[in-house]
Amino acid sequence: MNIPEKLPVHVTFIMDGNGRWARERGMERVRGHLEGVSSVRAVMEACVEWGIKYASFYAFSEENWSRPEQEVGYLMELMMKSLKGEYSTFMDNDVRLLVLGNRARLSRPLNAAIDYLVGATKDNKGLTMILFLSYSGQWDISQAALRMAAEGGKDISKYLVTAGIPDPDLLVRTSGEKRISNYMLWQTAYTEFVFTDTLWPDFRKEEFAAALREYASRDRRFGKVK
Ligand code: FPP
Repeated sequence: MNIPEKLPVHVTFIMDGNGRWARERGMERVRGHLEGVSSVRAVMEACVEWGIKYASFYAFSEENWSRPEQEVGYLMELMMKSLKGEYSTFMDNDVRLLVLGNRARLSRPLNAAIDYLVGATKDNKGLTMILFLSYSGQWDISQAALRMAAEGGKDISKYLVTAGIPDPDLLVRTSGEKRISNYMLWQTAYTEFVFTDTLWPDFRKEEFAAALREYASRDRRFGKVK
């Protein structure tokens, strides 16, 4: 596979199009989410293989809570099962797991499973894999502003849930939608965006490599003159 030399330190994904993928096949929407987990695994393995340090995934937004109860329940269950099932993949591949978002809204068993995996992988030194769960960019900025004011701090990035994590260099959104959907609003100030028509369940190594080639062709100036 043709992988460019210039790779992002942090690549992030808005995994869109699971429902449409399922509908196109006459299946229930949730089958798309299930298949989407295989794409997350494929992307994670590619990051390990290609030496990318941070990969993050918008797995569930604050707005997603207002989807039908059955779909929300399925997604939470899927998250829990997938995370538990990946324990040995994380350990074997030296992957550190982080879960960021409004954890207070997650169920007690899901929070317990997350705590266990985050704790077990905390000293792993390879890829940092981040799941954004019950997250929204506006929520993050609000909670950061409140804590910063309470402490009299000055640098908001130290209070965002992503404190200490480099801002994403590349954001990939699948399924042809071209918007940020209340994701990392602060952190994407200078992120490069790649939009692809591929639906998330079809987004595998080959599509990822293509997004990386597109990223490598961009001229990043961070508002300066070169
Ligand atoms: C968007 O597609 C996708 C989601 C809201 C859920 C994404 C979550 C996963 C793939 C599970 C991840 C699990 C782990 C453990 C990482 P959509 O339903 O909005 O699709 P549509 O726009 O076609 O309806």
